[in-house]
Amino acid sequence: MSSDAHTSELVAHQPLIGRVRVPGDKSVGHRSLLIGALCDGPVAVTGLSDGEDNRSSAKILENLGVRIERHGEGRATVHGVGLDGLKAPNAPLDCGNSGTTMRLTLGILAGQPFEVTLIGDHSLSRRPMRRVLEPLSRMGLEVVSARDGNFPPLTVRGRRPLTAIHYDSPVASAQIKSAILLAGLWANGTTTVSEPEVSRDHTERMLAYLREGNRLAARPIHVPGDLSSAAFLLGAALIVPGSEVVVEDVGVNPTRTGFLDALEFMGVAVHRGAPVERNGEPAADLGVKHQPLRHIHIAGELAVRAIDELPMLATLASFADGVTTIRDAKELRVKESDRIAQTARMLRSFGVDVVEHEDGMDIHGKPGRTLKAGEIDADGDHRIAMCASLLGLIAPSTKVAGADTIATSFPTFHAALRSLGAGPR
Ligand code: S3P
Repeated sequence: MSSDAHTSELVAHQPLIGRVRVPGDKSVGHRSLLIGALCDGPVAVTGLSDGEDNRSSAKILENLGVRIERHGEGRATVHGVGLDGLKAPNAPLDCGNSGTTMRLTLGILAGQPFEVTLIGDHSLSRRPMRRVLEPLSRMGLEVVSARDGNFPPLTVRGRRPLTAIHYDSPVASAQIKSAILLAGLWANGTTTVSEPEVSRDHTERMLAYLREGNRLAARPIHVPGDLSSAAFLLGAALIVPGSEVVVEDVGVNPTRTGFLDALEFMGVAVHRGAPVERNGEPAADLGVKHQPLRHIHIAGELAVRAIDELPMLATLASFADGVTTIRDAKELRVKESDRIAQTARMLRSFGVDVVEHEDGMDIHGKPGRTLKAGEIDADGDHRIAMCASLLGLIAPSTKVAGADTIATSFPTFHAALRSLGAGPR
């Protein structure tokens, strides 16, 4: 596979130094498309990522009759069709690798009076959908078929109006919450969701920004840089001695900033520039310098606010001054891969001692350690591929199979590392 060579070739001969930008936030990008499509008229989007996940959302909307124009450099126009304007597609909707696309779209489809089939790639076909199908069924969605009642491919039939519900979610999941709130747009009353910890609230912020009575008004949406992508570049600076990296215009919605808080607990001085807020989403420049790391404990609400960054934090914990413990993170087992098993396997391949738990892991850190060259199959998980590639910066000969999955969220990952000074072996 050509991407294998590509990744293992990138090493840090020198400190990583510089200022970079990352693609638009994947979560906000999905919502700019999916919610933008429901607005009354054209929505001008800026900062939209070119990543495959956001492309999956755009593609399925086009199959539902929504015109989306891409103007380059993250600018797009989503020609919103209003709450009554979606059309029955004439083929199954392919959500690719994107759980957010599938779950949020199910919320929208619940309110559409036609039958639709949704499919996904190998990784997505293993991810649980009952968690959204069950509450959406209570609102009126008919689940025509689902593999084992839980997994894609799914065929569903919506209706209008739906029944408004209050859903007390057993899991802190923005995808569950968002699916229900979106279905609530076609319900005969007020739909509410409560959850054990507060998950990311991009849907609530976007609906509050666009809502005008019973309609969604067409207003411009800016997608800030993705903190989940920035985390890998800030993480790279903490892996490669002497580095100093600033990532510009990164979304710092407090329901997402657990990674930054965890870094601060590890003793890292995170430079946060003054935040600028657009369409309810704050963004700021973020910078770190390479420095020694303390071991920490991550659990509870911190685990939820750092959920997608836990593999990166576990990776950094390999260099901390003791054992870092991660708990309350069972959700990691149902991400693009079983991220507890995959992170442990990946770190062990570099010689790091990791103990797996049902809901987390213990990482035995050693300051200034040398790593052996790792070998890992990303198995459809972009974040595992990026963690391994970063360790490869200081462990030449590392092999990452399936690194092409990085394009699902961060197509410019290698270019960003090169611009900071990483180079071929
Ligand atoms: C997301 C929510 C989270 C997160 C995912 C994106 C979203 O998933 O892990 O990467 O955009 O709503 P869960 O809702 O499954 O926690």
